[in-house]
Amino acid sequence: MAAPRFHELEIAAVRNETPDAVAITFAIPGDLDETFAFVPGQYLTLRADIGGQDMRRSYSICSPLEQTGRRTVGVKHIENGRFSGFAQSLKPGDRIQVMPPQGRFTAQIGGDHDYLLLAAGSGITPCLSIARSVLAGEPGSSVTLLYANRNSASVMFRDDLNDLKDRYTTRFTLLHVMDEEIQDVEIMNGRLDAAKLETLASHGLIDPKSADAIYICGPEPMIRSASTAMLGLGVDRDRLKFELFTPAPGAAPAPEPKPASGIKHGAAVEIILDGARRMITVDAEADTVLTAAMRAGLDLPYSCAGGMCCTCRCKIVEGTATMDENFSLEPWEIAAGFTLACQSRPTTDKLVLDFDAQ
Ligand code: FES
Repeated sequence: MAAPRFHELEIAAVRNETPDAVAITFAIPGDLDETFAFVPGQYLTLRADIGGQDMRRSYSICSPLEQTGRRTVGVKHIENGRFSGFAQSLKPGDRIQVMPPQGRFTAQIGGDHDYLLLAAGSGITPCLSIARSVLAGEPGSSVTLLYANRNSASVMFRDDLNDLKDRYTTRFTLLHVMDEEIQDVEIMNGRLDAAKLETLASHGLIDPKSADAIYICGPEPMIRSASTAMLGLGVDRDRLKFELFTPAPGAAPAPEPKPASGIKHGAAVEIILDGARRMITVDAEADTVLTAAMRAGLDLPYSCAGGMCCTCRCKIVEGTATMDENFSLEPWEIAAGFTLACQSRPTTDKLVLDFDAQ
C-alpha cells in the first residue's frame, strides 16, 4: 500500500467555536471520496509553507461518519503556535494541502457498547466524531462524555453537544468539568485529574468498570492522570485508548535538520517508499531518519515529528534502530519490526525501512 500523500482541498466553511478555536470544513471532491474515508477518531494532517518553512500539524476530524463530501476539523489556537495561528486565518475558498485520514484512536461502528469518553479542551474533537457516529450508527449503545474546560467560554462544539443531548436523551450523558467557573453541582468543579475521576466514579456519575471502551484525549498530564485513575478503578488496559495531542505544553516543533556532526561514517539507510528505493546516509548522533531524509530532499510522510501521530510509521526489514520517543506505536507493532522514522536512529551500519509495509 502506498504511503499517504497530500491533496489540495478547498475550504468550504470556517466557524468560530470559541474566541480561540475554529472548526474548518474541507470540501472533498467526488474523486477523493474514498481517499478521505475515515474511521471516527482519526485526524487530518494539514501542510503549509509558513514564513518559508514547510509546516504540518494534525487536527482531529469532528465530523459524524455519515457526513459526505465534507470533513471538519477543530483547531484551537496555541500560544505562540505558528501553525494554529495560520489555521485560524484561513477562510472559505482558500486551498490547503491535506493528508488523508490517519490515526488509531478509533471506534469501529457496529454492535452494542457502553462508551466512556474523557476529553479536555480541543481533545473534544475526535470524541465528538466518535459520539456522533456511535449514537447514529449503534442504536443499542450509550455514550458518557466527560468534558473538561477552564470555563464555559472555552467549550468547543457547544451547540453540537447540546444537539446530541436533545436527540439522544436516554443514550447520551454529557458532563462538564470546569476549573475556573463555579457550576451548581460542586462535584463538577475543579481539574479533571485522577482524584476527580475517582470521586465521580464513587458517586456513580461515571462507571468506568462497566464501559466497553474508554477514550481519553487531551494534554499529556491529563492523559497520564486519567489512565492511572482508570487502571486504579479496575479497568483493563486493553479497554483504554488515548490520543496524545502534545507531549508537553505547546505544539511539537517541525523537525529541523541539524548541522552535520563530525562523524564521518553514518549508517547507510535504504528507504522504500511508493515502491521506489532511495539510499541516504544517517549520522545517528546528529539526525533521526526523518531529519536526514529531509536534508537529502526526500519527502517522507510525517506530521507531528514528535512520536505521537504514527504518520511516519515504517517497517525495519534489515538492520536495527532505536527510537528517541514513542507515544503511538503499540507493543505488537514494535515486536513486528515497525518504527517511527521521526524518532529512529540506526544502530547498524545498514538499515532498510519500508514505508509501504502495513
Ligand atoms: S511524524 Fe508523528 S510520529 Fe513521526
